[in-house]
Amino acid sequence: MTKDIDYKHFLAEILIDEDTLQKRIDELGEEISKDYRGEDLLLICILRGGVMFLTDLMRRINIPHAIDFMAVSSYGVGVRESSGSVRITLDLSTNIKDRHVLLVEDIVDSGHTIASVLEMLETRQPKSLRVCSLLDKASRREAVVPLHYTGFEIENKFVFGYGLDLDEFYRGLPFIGVVDTDKYTPPD
Ligand code: IMP
Ligand code: MG
Repeated sequence: MTKDIDYKHFLAEILIDEDTLQKRIDELGEEISKDYRGEDLLLICILRGGVMFLTDLMRRINIPHAIDFMAVSSYGVGVRESSGSVRITLDLSTNIKDRHVLLVEDIVDSGHTIASVLEMLETRQPKSLRVCSLLDKASRREAVVPLHYTGFEIENKFVFGYGLDLDEFYRGLPFIGVVDTDKYTPPD
């Protein structure tokens, strides 16, 4: 399948442009570096949406840190419906016991994904466990999740770009855009 890379006809608006994203990530990097100075920090990126954010964020963290990746999928019906629990489809290769863990996520929507990841990782006894999410759709929250670092709180609109996908495409765009759902046709 060839995907039309011209997203412009279904881009309703650029919600967060590249410059604004990068400036906020500068601030987050600074804040995280300050908070974890002298500690042994492990950043865990939740694939695949968190990947752009991780690579930019880690370049702004000026203290030693390690990285690892995990992927989860929700037990649920539609791809955009989040159910109560998730299963790990790719596990960490690092033992997190007694480590300071910071989860790096693209977006927290209902909160179910991150709530179950936190619950699973807590059983492995990290020294600390926090969440850094680029985006927060706070009005959609169903699960209670402590967000220690947030890039931007956004309205309830479906967004894409900068790691976030539209049917698995467009993750590489440098900005966060809003989809015009009347003009976007999902692939078959
Ligand atoms: P939650 O379990 O409802 O918090 O869902 C979080 C996951 O849903 C995120 O990690 C994203 O993969 C996906 N998601 C939620 N909202 C959006 C969106 O607006 N665009 C793209 N993906 C989204
Ligand atoms: Mg995600």
